[in-house]
Amino acid sequence: MSGSPAAIPSISALDSGIALWREGYVFVRSRCDGLGTDAFRTRIMMRNVVCMRGPAAAEQFYMPGRFTRRRAIPRTALALLQDWGSVQTLDGEAHRHRKQMFMDMMDAAGIGRAISIFRAEWGATLDRAPRRVRLHDLAREALGRTAILWCALPLEEAEPERRTAELSAMIEGAGSFGLGHIRARLMRRRCEHWARQTIEAIRDGALQARSDSPAQRIALHRGLSGEELPPGIAAVELLNLLRPLVAIARFVTFIGHALHVHRDAAAHLSANAADADLEAFVQEVRRFYPFFPMVGGRVLEPFSWAGHQFGKDDWVLLDLYGTNHHPDAWHDAETFDPQRFRGWQGDGCTLVPQGGGGFLSGHRCPGEWLTIALMGEAVRQLLAMDYAVPEQDLHIPMNRLPTLPNSGLVLELGNT
Ligand code: HEM
Repeated sequence: MSGSPAAIPSISALDSGIALWREGYVFVRSRCDGLGTDAFRTRIMMRNVVCMRGPAAAEQFYMPGRFTRRRAIPRTALALLQDWGSVQTLDGEAHRHRKQMFMDMMDAAGIGRAISIFRAEWGATLDRAPRRVRLHDLAREALGRTAILWCALPLEEAEPERRTAELSAMIEGAGSFGLGHIRARLMRRRCEHWARQTIEAIRDGALQARSDSPAQRIALHRGLSGEELPPGIAAVELLNLLRPLVAIARFVTFIGHALHVHRDAAAHLSANAADADLEAFVQEVRRFYPFFPMVGGRVLEPFSWAGHQFGKDDWVLLDLYGTNHHPDAWHDAETFDPQRFRGWQGDGCTLVPQGGGGFLSGHRCPGEWLTIALMGEAVRQLLAMDYAVPEQDLHIPMNRLPTLPNSGLVLELGNT
């Protein structure tokens, strides 16, 4: 902890909810910098909370069995993202058992299949695209189709445009209130209805999906008691594959941004670049750009850290973006520099754009390897494309959750 005082300081605000909403990604970090600490206490939405950042905080946060995600994530975000009954709301053995189902999908064959589908869908989407197109839209369309095909669902029957719009609305609406949020909830309801019908169709044989396909695995998964998942929960888990796959479009947009804005750092890359070079670039995009701001947990097992006693049910927010930019953990943290990842030995608590700790022992994102692989393929595809980046507003607002370059990154496609 950088110059930390003995106990976690408290900031004098009646409620920091509005400040968090106004400042977004930099809310925790700017207060920690101001106080010379990696943690502080405040109130958000009328609840006491400890906000923390950095690898040492992440290590505490991801200690197996220490935190639950139940009642730790705002209901508005939970309803649009993981949702009730999902793997993220489980703990202990029930969590481990369900999580294994997700991890089983992420073997080399599963990831390889996703890459080939994405490559084909990217090409087809590009062929249909207008000459001037937002990279975010292009990536969403290709990834929406990839997600459906990877799950082994019939593409046209799944109505890919409609599903992609619904899944995107869930991502966009997760950090908002008001009309945008209500619209996203309605779209989620429609998508969940479709997912539930899909699960039931697989179960009664009306829809044949390959036996090792993600959709089939979810539909036929049996919980610890040997029962199939209730159809509503299975539908939620199907969306927990499809939605984050579409969300990778944000990372693809950031890749396009980095290739354009941090040109020097990408100068050595080509479509035939070595895997190690591509991976270093992808890791730096995941570290540098703001995506998932923070994750919440409630204490299951009391512990003490940084001179503070964390009691049962205490609420804690771990700043993921702030950890990825922690000045003690990352040399020149505000510089985009893929070279820092050459020969990097990951430790699970320093680079946390998709959570940290262990996969089975905690809530770390099971889609991390798949995300990295798809991002690597997106870098290759972008490097092989002929496009120009016209004048536009590339600013990335830090108070929009989740954020993007304002323009969505408009490309002018060439002839190849
Ligand atoms: C777009 C890139 C992605 C980002 C930024 C992301 C981020 C995250 C984060 C921050 C968490 C929560 C970690 C925690 O609670 O400590 C998470 C969990 C999860 N993610 Fe991802 N994710 C991404 C892609 C994916 C993909 C591609 C999949 C599946 C295909 C996926 C499925 C899940 C699931 C099922 C969980 C819950 C895990 C658990 O509770 O044990 N995510 N993700």
